[in-house]
Amino acid sequence: MQARELVVTVSPHFSIPEKYTQYLQNRLVQLGYDLHKPETLSQVIRELSQKFLLRQLSLDYWADSKYRAAYLSYFQVLNYLRARAVLSEASRQNFLVSAKKISDWGCGLGAASWAILDHEAESLNLVDAVDSSDSALGELKKFFEFLNVNVEISKKNLGQIRECQSDTLILSYVLNEVASWPEIPDHVQRLIIIEPSTHQASRALLKWREEILTRGWYAWAPCVHQGPCPVYTQSPRDWCHHRINWNKPEWFVELEKHLPMRNDTLTMSYLLIARQPPPERHRFLARVIGDEQEERGKSRQQICRGERREFLSWLHRDQVSPYLERGDLIKLRDFEEKKNEVRISSTSGFDLIDD
Ligand SMILES: C[S@@+](CC[C@H](N)C(=O)[O-])C[C@H]1O[C@@H](n2cnc3c(N)ncnc32)[C@H](O)[C@@H]1O
Repeated sequence: MQARELVVTVSPHFSIPEKYTQYLQNRLVQLGYDLHKPETLSQVIRELSQKFLLRQLSLDYWADSKYRAAYLSYFQVLNYLRARAVLSEASRQNFLVSAKKISDWGCGLGAASWAILDHEAESLNLVDAVDSSDSALGELKKFFEFLNVNVEISKKNLGQIRECQSDTLILSYVLNEVASWPEIPDHVQRLIIIEPSTHQASRALLKWREEILTRGWYAWAPCVHQGPCPVYTQSPRDWCHHRINWNKPEWFVELEKHLPMRNDTLTMSYLLIARQPPPERHRFLARVIGDEQEERGKSRQQICRGERREFLSWLHRDQVSPYLERGDLIKLRDFEEKKNEVRISSTSGFDLIDD
């Protein structure tokens, strides 16, 4: 029997740094909770999660310390990992090389700021954190004191975004909370937007992508082209989302035993957008944007390389097993186009781009 051809992606696994776990435990104890008493903690996480789902939260849900404890130990951990993954993609694309200052707008308890600080040691002077909630900023201040970093914190709402001094904005899980999206000031050069991977939030982001690209902005990631998004324009059911792997710590495993939701992998929708065009090489690549779907005699996996909604496909009889993951970049070499399929018959049909 012919050997199966394998192309295995070595996708990174993101982790929670030890210093964060330390801080988290100290702070939770001050707030009346404990990482090692997951049952009690899970009750407030469930309560907060339900309120997020039913959109029952007043703007300042941070004022209640039980919700700060719930957010810190669950949502913050997950959003930190998501931001960390998006920043990895930003590094891979050299997206931030000219950034002088990054504002984490709608910072909440600082999941994205913390990912920036953690991602680049030299970025200490890069970040500032902005939110409309005093309680969130007060909580974040404690974290920065613990880290012994001097990050500027200011109270503003999105309507004041014109006052931002930065050339780069990161908005993590903010836009799905606001009725109208802010007008981006002229001096802002780069945007990092992270949103939940829900149909509604993700399609709102794709709709906004269509609009902003007509106003002189360029998509850097996950998009590899500047045309209309096929996920948005060619199917009302689709939405574009990324998936990452992470090393779940033992305390989180225990916590999840008391929760109805599981986070073995994490998903999110994101966009890196800039006023400058992305590197030229983008134009010749395709991004894997779906999981492998097995059908009778073949497999398909959604890819994006232009305006068409397309799938990389391979027949099982050809003994090809690409094992690609969402987010992978590939360069197609040898393939046959069949309707919306890009059919490969061996793994030399494409190169996996590592850098
Ligand atoms: C779900 S939290 C996300 C927090 C953090 N960025 C993260 O990724 O974990 C949304 C944040 O947006 C802030 N927010 C919502 N509407 C806002 C507005 N109009 N102006 C400024 N901040 C706002 C809230 O106070 C909250 O901190």
